Amino acid sequence: MVLTEQYEVTIVDSDERYICDSTQNLLKGMVQLGRKGIPVGCRGGGCGVCKVQVLSGTYTSKRMSREHVSVEDEAEGRVLACRTWPTSSIELQVVGQLQRAVTR
Ligand code: FES
Repeated sequence: MVLTEQYEVTIVDSDERYICDSTQNLLKGMVQLGRKGIPVGCRGGGCGVCKVQVLSGTYTSKRMSREHVSVEDEAEGRVLACRTWPTSSIELQVVGQLQRAVTR
């Protein structure tokens, strides 16, 4: 049996919070609850619009395109939400290409 943990994710740009299962990536967890704080694109790591800066918390991420996430980005916690799974509660900030659309 696989245990699913649930973690709170806070999007600081819009002060939105949602609960994300450890089995769901950050973007899928948000979309499933009808939240809109992180821009949604391809949902598969290809477009880069869901890029976020993790401010606190831990996570695991799958391979991400270097076109969107550089080695420095990854080292500093900038990741694609659709390729990132929470392992604790997380606070993040949107840094993807549609950031202005979110903060307007
Ligand atoms: S939605 Fe396209 S990279 Fe995440």
